[in-house]
Amino acid sequence: MKILSIESSCDETAAAVVEDGRSVLSSVVVSQVEEHKLYGGVVPEIASRRHAEAITGVVGEALAQADLNLNDLDAVAVTYAPGLIGALLVGVNFAKGLSYGTGLPLIPVHHLRSHIAANYITNPELKPPFLCLVVSGGHSHIVAVEDYTKMKIIGKTRDDAAGEVFDKVARTLGMSYPGGINLDKAAENGNDKAYTLPHPKVSDSPYDFSFSGLKTAAINIIHNVSQKGEQVISEDLCASFRKAVVDCLVDNFLKAARDFGYSTIVIAGGVSANSLLRRRLEAECKKCGFSLYKPELKLCGDNGAMVGAQAYYEYLDGNIADLDLNAAATMSIENG
Ligand code: KG4
Ligand code: ZN
Repeated sequence: MKILSIESSCDETAAAVVEDGRSVLSSVVVSQVEEHKLYGGVVPEIASRRHAEAITGVVGEALAQADLNLNDLDAVAVTYAPGLIGALLVGVNFAKGLSYGTGLPLIPVHHLRSHIAANYITNPELKPPFLCLVVSGGHSHIVAVEDYTKMKIIGKTRDDAAGEVFDKVARTLGMSYPGGINLDKAAENGNDKAYTLPHPKVSDSPYDFSFSGLKTAAINIIHNVSQKGEQVISEDLCASFRKAVVDCLVDNFLKAARDFGYSTIVIAGGVSANSLLRRRLEAECKKCGFSLYKPELKLCGDNGAMVGAQAYYEYLDGNIADLDLNAAATMSIENG
């Protein structure tokens, strides 16, 4: 089954053709990041406009790269939630138009479910059930993936997402948007013991995260040092901060895996590209015998291929939308 899939939830306009949820026939991603860099973050109105300009070309290119035309497809899929509402609407309306014009079924896909599904492309043998750490710019969840379309949230952030705090601390250090990857690179050359940062715990849930105090502590260090007329050692702060965030993620995730009896664990979302997170989990899983699955780096960030992967399983589960499908800025992964 060949699915044309469309993603426009944030600042990447993307489309792909994926066969049977696992085989990527084409994948095109057009990033707006250079423009949003000027403002230090995504400007939603600009994002919507750029999606509207790019989407026809991106979808056309995805079909061309797969050497297919619309008649060769079996369905159209689109990210419909969660995300920037104006940005999502561009993809949703384009997909609805395609579905109406071609008669192809329309498959609505939850953005975080698609991040998890990126793993089905990279790891063809991976099947639910497993426990997944989904860490992106907007979300940090520990999700029990009981089946391809049946998910239960075990833990989540009470405040900021992991990607968000990486970006904010990077920005305070003068790094350009999106700072997470730059902070990760700088941290590779830093001393992670140079600065002392808290390791926040949420008192009533061992699986929930809280990153906002940790972010503020790091930003306070930067400001305090500069008030003394000195300069923070950027690499060292990046390394100390990255270690603090990764410690929280890894500790809660592995505790949840042990407590809920999962020995297959998976990471997903933009922050799953973080080099320390990947190394730490590899080392921990080697010690305790868990199987760890990760998406390849190019599938960690937003892309259309992961939407096509999840769409296949949504379709098999009978999740087909009508032409009254709407986008939603928020939506639980459990209901997606
Ligand atoms: O999943 P994603 O592409 O978009 C959302 O759905 O939010 O995630 C983007 C987030 C950004 O905050 C970005 O800085 C972060 O993922 N990110 C990283 C790394 N690469 C991307 N954070 C830490 N280390 C990285 N290597
Ligand atoms: Zn994403």
